[in-house]
Amino acid sequence: MSDAIVLVTGATGFIGSRLTRRLVDAGLRVRAMARSDTAAVAPGAELVVGDLSDPASLERACAGVSAVFSCAAITGDRKAPPGGYDAINAEGIGALAQAATKAGVQRLIHFGGIDVAGAKPGPYLAGRRRGEELLKAAGVPWTILQPSVQFGPGSPFIRAMAGLVKGALVPVAGNGRTRIQLIHVDDVCRAAQDCLVGDARLGRYVELGGPEAIEFDRILDIIGGALGKARVRKVHAPLIVVRAQARLLQVLKNPPVTPAAVELLERDNVAASLEGVEREFGFRPVGFVEHVAAHGLEL
Ligand SMILES: NC(=O)c1ccc[n+]([C@@H]2O[C@H](COP(=O)([O-])OP(=O)(O)OC[C@H]3O[C@@H](n4cnc5c(N)ncnc54)[C@H](OP(=O)(O)O)[C@@H]3O)[C@@H](O)[C@H]2O)c1
Repeated sequence: MSDAIVLVTGATGFIGSRLTRRLVDAGLRVRAMARSDTAAVAPGAELVVGDLSDPASLERACAGVSAVFSCAAITGDRKAPPGGYDAINAEGIGALAQAATKAGVQRLIHFGGIDVAGAKPGPYLAGRRRGEELLKAAGVPWTILQPSVQFGPGSPFIRAMAGLVKGALVPVAGNGRTRIQLIHVDDVCRAAQDCLVGDARLGRYVELGGPEAIEFDRILDIIGGALGKARVRKVHAPLIVVRAQARLLQVLKNPPVTPAAVELLERDNVAASLEGVEREFGFRPVGFVEHVAAHGLEL
């Protein structure tokens, strides 16, 4: 496998940058896709410019590649232009899978998320689901990873929560008892790398969650403790109010909350099992509580 090229899309992102570095360190030839030719990608990786909205750029990125890690997306915590989730997270992922199929890529490992969508998903989760359907229909052998929310160096979620916790009162959507199976980004990348080997995970969804499911309010308390706050004061707001507020805030350039983020966190973000990663990949992911005690928040 060492001469084969592995492509990582979203190589400037939280997961993609960490994964690129890990694969380079493992001695693989890594091509890192970013939207600009001046993007900073992990040293040792070959930079290729590509955009999910530009199919020709995806064909160039996939040429000569044996495996693709698909980490590029508009994530739920970012404001998307109207129709953006569908254009990028659905059509764009479909175009990437088409390009991979055309280039004879042997496997495409895609980062989705735990499926928290209800019967009627909003635009974010609907876009993600449709992207996965287009990917599966393209013909390239696939694995869809479904990580829960991640912590680790630069985690967008932990940074956002730490920002809130620093305030006098922390607004919380719902009753604060929604559970999240936080998993360290390096454990996610380790599992993803393992998907390069063998056929056992081809054509499958694989959930990735940490060893504990922690209620939202407790996550805030742990973050507060790490920031030296004796008590985190919370205001619980009904979901219907928070959804309406999130919609109204979209007039801002960088809204503090998006409807997609509310959609993602209004149901438990947990896998079917707390031992799933250990069973599937043979290692126990580090727990959030023990990791923060040892390393802090790694903001
Ligand atoms: N972080 C988590 O806790 C978490 C949990 C579950 C699932 N996931 C999923 O994992 C994937 C990666 O998440 P992340 O946290 O690494 O996100 P991130 O930090 O926001 O990175 C997203 C990446 O996608 C790139 N991108 C955005 N639009 C693009 C386009 N049109 N064409 C090409 N590249 C584009 C960004 O490039 P620029 O730098 O140019 O913007 C960036 O490199 C996402 O699908 C996310 O939903 C993440």
